[in-house]
Amino acid sequence: MRFQDKVVLVTGAGSGIGAGVAQAFARAGARVMLADINAEQGQQCLAAIEAEGGQAAFFQVDVTSAAQMRELVSATVSRFGRLDIVHNNAGISGSNDFTADIEEAEFDRVVAVNLKAVWLCMKYSIEQMLQQGGGVIVNTASALALTVLPGSATYNATKHAVAGLTKTAAVEYASRNIRINAICPGVIRTAMLNNHPNLAELEPKLVALHPVGRLGEVEEVVKAVLWLASEEASFMHGSLVTVDGGWTA
Ligand code: NAI
Repeated sequence: MRFQDKVVLVTGAGSGIGAGVAQAFARAGARVMLADINAEQGQQCLAAIEAEGGQAAFFQVDVTSAAQMRELVSATVSRFGRLDIVHNNAGISGSNDFTADIEEAEFDRVVAVNLKAVWLCMKYSIEQMLQQGGGVIVNTASALALTVLPGSATYNATKHAVAGLTKTAAVEYASRNIRINAICPGVIRTAMLNNHPNLAELEPKLVALHPVGRLGEVEEVVKAVLWLASEEASFMHGSLVTVDGGWTA
């Protein structure tokens, strides 16, 4: 019970990496606030945790709304008493257009979910962590915070920016007992990948990016997130931890 009685908030907990992380924290004894815009999937994750005897609650939120993010952190503290660990993870892939073809509304949408929301979640979580004397934040960046893929300019840009936010805040709050790091996964088998319209054509190209010769699984990212959130990573501040089968090595 590595996280016994710790209070954990996971955004994007309805699916993929977030759902895996939320369930793993609950199995390790944490009380978990699941946050997602998709209530049906969030409730499914909650039911899976409760079926195993874990403690969790679900809060429907659009992570791009400042008011809703403030309310999410406040609801977590009201329900569970404090906030020890945040996995700031909700994200979207956006369109696959080249830079000059991206529509303005699409650019704004991806920036709002992948960048502004990460800042909002950090802002309100850090306020709470300062009051209670410390905490841990793990942001989900991407291998595309370190390299780029053509046809993903907005996604690439937001993930590079998440790396910058992570490192800046880590330096700002290290002396206040708040540890902030990011994970940078390679391509992982989740809905984000499986919903791609040209998956059959795309998949071999994506596999070829990874020297290990395969894509990653959710559990492989989950283990890295839990380790970064644990006391074992006590001297990790502002790190971008790759979990990418060698893609960006
Ligand atoms: P996913 O699509 O399975 O899960 C994303 C979750 O975020 C969904 O439950 C969705 O409802 C939620 N979400 C989306 N917009 C939201 C909003 N406005 N408010 C609240 N929740 C919202 O995707 P996956 O793969 O689990 O992605 C999680 C994170 O991992 C994302 O930040 C993604 O960019 C990142 N990532 C994913 C990789 C992959 O290959 N799957 C690779 C590298 C990073």
